[in-house]
Amino acid sequence: MSQHFKHDVVIIGSGAAGLTLALTLPDNLHIAVLSKGELTNGSTYWAQGGVAAVLDHSDTVDSHVDDTLNAGAGLCREDAVRFTVEHSREAIEWLIEQGVPFTRDDEHDREDGGYEFHLTREGGHSHRRIIHAADATGAAIFNTLLERTRERGNITLLEQRVAVDLITEHKLGRKGRRCLGAYVLNRRSGEVDTHHARFVILATGGAAKVYLYTSNPDGACGDGIAMAWRAGCRVGNLEFNQFHPTCLYHPQAKSFLITEALRGEGALLRLPNGERFMPRFDPREELAPRDIVARAIDHEMKRLGIDCVYLDISHKPADFVRNHFPTVYQRCLEFGIDITCQPIPVVPAAHYTCGGVLVDQAGRSDVEGLYAIGETSFTGLHGANRMASNSLLECFVYARSAAADIVANLDKVAMPADLPSWDASQVTDSDEDVIIAHNWDELRRFMWDYVGIVRTTKRLQRAQHRVRLLLDEIDEFYSNYKVSRDLIELRNLAQVAELMILSAMARKESRGLHYTLDYPGLLPDAQDTILQPANADG
Ligand code: FAD
Ligand code: SIN
Repeated sequence: MSQHFKHDVVIIGSGAAGLTLALTLPDNLHIAVLSKGELTNGSTYWAQGGVAAVLDHSDTVDSHVDDTLNAGAGLCREDAVRFTVEHSREAIEWLIEQGVPFTRDDEHDREDGGYEFHLTREGGHSHRRIIHAADATGAAIFNTLLERTRERGNITLLEQRVAVDLITEHKLGRKGRRCLGAYVLNRRSGEVDTHHARFVILATGGAAKVYLYTSNPDGACGDGIAMAWRAGCRVGNLEFNQFHPTCLYHPQAKSFLITEALRGEGALLRLPNGERFMPRFDPREELAPRDIVARAIDHEMKRLGIDCVYLDISHKPADFVRNHFPTVYQRCLEFGIDITCQPIPVVPAAHYTCGGVLVDQAGRSDVEGLYAIGETSFTGLHGANRMASNSLLECFVYARSAAADIVANLDKVAMPADLPSWDASQVTDSDEDVIIAHNWDELRRFMWDYVGIVRTTKRLQRAQHRVRLLLDEIDEFYSNYKVSRDLIELRNLAQVAELMILSAMARKESRGLHYTLDYPGLLPDAQDTILQPANADG
């Protein structure tokens, strides 16, 4: 039997954004945090490099703002950038208060103004400003926040719960446009439950799984973006899909990232013959922003017909490498690569969704009572290319501002009543799951081939044609069969893929992560690509 639950706040997603929001809200609220698999299954747990923030005495807010604007290729919203960077120090101080074990800096003298934690560098940053926990920063943050969450009696953590769709006044044919809750598949009971909530937060992460090769864990399917779109929210800048330049190239190494901090600490990119190539592409060489480095690697791989390039840190002392990068060292060793003396074979892979659900500085979407925070949102911070380690920062800053906004509006919002149960009376068990698997594969393959690092109008048109066929097939499947996690994710991925393709087709220039051979130049006027669903206001 499907059930009804009531919460003050439902947070869909248990990553950095979701857990931060849960911990920042007052403890007299009843809060549910949902994860569609294990709690660890978002990208947060896998983050390596760290969190960018203005922490060192020699660094400034203006410098971090300028670097972000430069990396964003003229498309960042400066107010969003400044807001995020100005709140960076307090976000890190909050994490330290929660007990996150960031790597300390024992080498520099405090009295000399040195910062007590080690700060590393990554592409696009003109200062050392990445605070980290060796090369497993995400796990350190996640584990700490989870522990704090478990100490709080008012937060219920619900694993294996897949949000299917949002419940809104307008979808129910009622007056108004407020979000009232969500339908959620309980994978343990197989039922779709109704979660009533005064406030609903999408903290569902990105959509990099839309590509065949990705650094992201399996759940990065753009669920929040697709649900928000269906609920009537605008989405922005979905053509900007970031490809991380360096993922391990090995047949058995699914999705393993080689952190950009290696390049920050001096690692060099080389061709198979040992030659460096980044100096030919950008004066910042290996520390150019990601779009430039990924495109340079793609260019060299195609030019020479090679399967990968190499990242080499073997010129650094072995102890330094092992101490700073224990996770990368260990993982590569498992594949027979000793990074202290051998170069690492690497390729670019889809890594980050720069666009998402359009929100304001408090994380508010177009639908009342519905917030989006973290990678699922589009705040304007990243522009046409996210700068390294600004993503976790955005999770913390916007989760905290969303919490403040919810608190300020608590008294105005009552618990929604009389929500209808999920109607499963017209559907049966599927006997054709092979179609779902096949469609998943087809979608991710054509997105990789046609909507990848280098695009053309023809390739985008091909992708658009194929995604339409898939969407029709998925709709039919969705109307006739019981929902499963795979079906929900496929439906969302295909929806987001279409939005990505439409956004890419609308951009008649090459900017940041969107590079098309048909419009290689930059238009003088930088414009966001904002898409509006048919059921939106106005
Ligand atoms: P996530 O951490 O992805 O969490 C999403 C949550 O939503 C999960 O709990 C998932 O179960 C849940 N969810 C999704 N859909 C549903 C649904 N339908 N129903 C219920 N639950 C759902 N950024 C940096 O700033 N610094 C780094 O060093 C860094 N390193 C990275 C390394 C890797 C390998 C990867 C993949 C990313 C890295 N990033 C880094 C990016 C950064 O980690 C992510 O952008 C960030 O963690 C996203 O956090 P989030 O809270 O928005 O979402
Ligand atoms: C990395 O460690 O290279 C990832 C950092 C990021 O995605 O910001």
